[in-house]
Amino acid sequence: MNHAKIEKNIGLMGILIVVAISFGGLAEIVPLFFIKDTTEPVQTLQPYTALELEGRDIYIREGCHVCHTQMVRPFRAETERYGHYSVAGEDVYEHPFLWGSKRTGPDLARVGGRYSDEWHYVHLINPRDVVPESNMPGFPWLAERQLSGEKTAKKLQVMRTLGVPYTDSDIAGAQQAVVGKTEMEALIAYLQSMGHEFSNQATSAGGQ
Ligand code: HEC
Repeated sequence: MNHAKIEKNIGLMGILIVVAISFGGLAEIVPLFFIKDTTEPVQTLQPYTALELEGRDIYIREGCHVCHTQMVRPFRAETERYGHYSVAGEDVYEHPFLWGSKRTGPDLARVGGRYSDEWHYVHLINPRDVVPESNMPGFPWLAERQLSGEKTAKKLQVMRTLGVPYTDSDIAGAQQAVVGKTEMEALIAYLQSMGHEFSNQATSAGGQ
């Protein structure tokens, strides 16, 4: 009887469908906030250094994440190419996360240590100097701009309020650690830091 009423009233039915789907969504999402695998950093996870954090901001500013993902999916074709698949515990200090959704270029989640700093330098100035068929744009201005570090301490502080375990001395020394470095150096430091959590396969959560 009641059911017939719902079926005949499309507005009510629409609302109830949304309610039903929302419950389904919540049942999938809410437990993730409480499961250790998704909230605890993997054992080897380190907060970014001040210079790496500045590099990460440049990565965002230049839109690198528009062409590059940072998410190795658990498929053989991916793990053979990039290394261990990504796990949630690696991204606990990522604010915001940069998983991305489009791969014009390769995934970068495990790029740290794959090339030398010099390779990255040449590649970022003009990718075609090292990869002739590349259609990645060059970013030569990064080598000319210097960091003042004025906001670096503040950035670390904000990260700390979000749960990244920076110490007082990390924050006090943040500006000193980056002042005078080029944006290029910061970006390369960031690239080289990526994915080391799994270089020795040592994980406490979610890994093999
Ligand atoms: C328009 C798309 C595009 C943008 C934007 C872009 N890239 Fe790329 N990137 C590519 C493509 C395509 C390749 C593969 C060819 C090559 O190695 O140059 C690549 C390759 C790379 C590689 C080598 C990865 C590997 O495993 O061989 C790195 C590192 C890299 N990009 C970093 C960056 C950084 C840092 C930025 C931002 C400053 C950036 N890319 C912006 C398209 C892009």
